[in-house]
Amino acid sequence: MSYQNPRIAEVATALQNRLGTLETKSDILKAVELKALFDELKTLPSGQRAAYGKEVNALRAELEALVAAGQAQTEALPPIDITAPFDINVPADKRPALLPSENGSKHPLMAELEHVLDIFYRMGFTAVESREIDDDYHMFGALNFPEGHPARDDYDTFMTVETDHNGKQFIAPAHTSTMQNRVLRKYKDNLEQGQSIAVVIPGRVFRNEDLDPRHEHTFYQLEGVYVGKGIHAGNLIATLKVFLQEYYQKDLEVKTQPFYFPFTEPSFEFALSCPFCDKKGCNVCSYSGWIELLGCGMIHPNVLREAGINPEEYTGFAWGGGIDRLVIIKNSIEDIRYFESGKLDFLRQFA
Ligand code: DAH
Repeated sequence: MSYQNPRIAEVATALQNRLGTLETKSDILKAVELKALFDELKTLPSGQRAAYGKEVNALRAELEALVAAGQAQTEALPPIDITAPFDINVPADKRPALLPSENGSKHPLMAELEHVLDIFYRMGFTAVESREIDDDYHMFGALNFPEGHPARDDYDTFMTVETDHNGKQFIAPAHTSTMQNRVLRKYKDNLEQGQSIAVVIPGRVFRNEDLDPRHEHTFYQLEGVYVGKGIHAGNLIATLKVFLQEYYQKDLEVKTQPFYFPFTEPSFEFALSCPFCDKKGCNVCSYSGWIELLGCGMIHPNVLREAGINPEEYTGFAWGGGIDRLVIIKNSIEDIRYFESGKLDFLRQFA
């Protein structure tokens, strides 16, 4: 509706805009600007009153209609209590409508994780889930990163403002290695009974990184820990090779390159021959024939000692790698950020 009187037109626009911000819509009818327009009516020369009064009344009628329309709209939408969607005793046709279950599907990362774990179960491993909040000791101290060690900075760690009883900030784990000390302690009795410790640890990890198609702040890793008598790097390489051949259902070559992690000695970067082009060179392996997959190594004696295991008697290996990366490689996904995006058209391709 347009108003001839510029004052009334101005107030009309202001009040229409304000209406959208009000929780109780009818409060707009009590606006001081509207009252001021009515008060002004009495001060006008009699010749102008009729036209002015007509417009102010029209404005009030317009606002009343908008308030009524707003009320009708909220009344038309009965609220659904999502914490208790229905009483099981209520007949199905009387229950509030819920999203049909066929709209949901397993997330591609979780589907792949089940497949990965299944292979490790068949290889004799147990799974222990990682956690989503941890402390400085498990993130660094127990893993042979002394205070002030420069490698602490490599992990772009998110920390809380609150501190633990040692005055250290809590940490959103930046790798699943935070669980190593816990699983070693939990299963160390196995060793005395002549059994090995063989555990895989899936978990969500967090890093304060710049985001791009290859980097996401939240992703998943799978850690592996194996400790026993006379365990050596050959066992590590064989375990990963057997897993990957089962996963990709084909013979593969693997290779290791020296690397540095404080919690393993020696440490390696582990690569496999590209399962898609058999080393001929393709998009997936950036035409190198090899895919660098994960970090691994022989567990550092200090890490075993910290968990109460004698490194003179027992040795072990560990590895940690991204689950997202496995799924990305397998399905040629161009952007890691799709996994956390909630994009239904992406997720439904895996349903
Ligand atoms: N935690 C390392 C990372 O996220 C990966 C890793 C390397 C895990 C070597 C291990 C290991 O268990 O032995 O960068």
